Amino acid sequence: MTVDTERTITVTVNGVPREATVPVRRLLSDALRHDLGLTGTHVGCEHGVCGACTVLVDGDPVRSCLMLAVQVDGHAVTTVEGLAAPDGTLHPVQEAFRECHALQCGFCTPGFLTTIAAELEKRDRSAGLTEEEVDEIVGGNLCRCTGYANIKKAVHHAAAAMKDAQ
Ligand code: FES
Ligand code: FES
Repeated sequence: MTVDTERTITVTVNGVPREATVPVRRLLSDALRHDLGLTGTHVGCEHGVCGACTVLVDGDPVRSCLMLAVQVDGHAVTTVEGLAAPDGTLHPVQEAFRECHALQCGFCTPGFLTTIAAELEKRDRSAGLTEEEVDEIVGGNLCRCTGYANIKKAVHHAAAAMKDAQ
């Protein structure tokens, strides 16, 4: 009996159909970085704890170090590179991070941006955002530099901008 060790997958990445032939055990994080050249997705703990590798699969945040690339065959993936508009206009969450100085070394930032963007896109934009909700949104991502105050400020800032843009 022969066992397939590679598979060709088709994934829409940041709105663009992409194809890659990957080992069947290739992690999604590695496929994005090494096979598709999207190094904006960072890899920290590699076991689902830090959130640095978070990308969106069909709009939902997932830890790409816990998924196999073959699992996204036929799905849509958004990485941090896909958050800004095609003309380069930053996503409101990116703009808020810039405004609020919500990053230092930036290692954790792609994971925060994708997570926060997905959560703010999903919620009712006209509803107020409580401190507890902000804690809930950012609580699964680790940052060793900022102390979180400015990250949380950025979430409020982005939510307000998205509400105004309605
Ligand atoms: S690298 Fe995936 S959660 Fe830390
Ligand atoms: S900005 Fe350095 S780990 Fe978060």
